[in-house]
Amino acid sequence: MEDKREENKQVIFSEDLKYMAEDFGIKNQDGVKYALNNCQEVFGYISKAHQEEISNVFQVEKKIVEVLIKLSPALKESIVEYEVICCTGSRCAKNGSMEVLKTVREELGLEFGETSEDGRIRLTSQNCFKRCGEGPNMTINGSFHHRLDKDKARNIIKEIKN
Ligand code: FES
Repeated sequence: MEDKREENKQVIFSEDLKYMAEDFGIKNQDGVKYALNNCQEVFGYISKAHQEEISNVFQVEKKIVEVLIKLSPALKESIVEYEVICCTGSRCAKNGSMEVLKTVREELGLEFGETSEDGRIRLTSQNCFKRCGEGPNMTINGSFHHRLDKDKARNIIKEIKN
């Protein structure tokens, strides 16, 4: 169970975030603080992308999220804007993900686990998103891109690089 949680942490984080907003109520600052702490616990830092996700789900301005981070010395901010996560599972591989993975790494000039020199883009992988029927899959800031081929992947990566 723990392993599965680790593999799918971005997907699970996004799902949990919705429950947090339901439990605390939208615009609730204690809920936002709870979500920020949860984000740090899961990822070890709070990226720009996660700040945006939290502000969207709780429907609070990004400035409020930024202030709450600054007021809590325990929270660590990261300047990563794009969290790119590629599926390396076997079913996506059967659907042609090897070419997609190669293209994404080449376009970004990064290996899995690396962050771009300017700190804006982090590339990681997960074993399976449980969306195998729609693979090859990749998420960017928690949003899915399905049925990728190398051309689609190249275009998506070019967009976030600019
Ligand atoms: S193998 Fe890629 S989503 Fe399952």
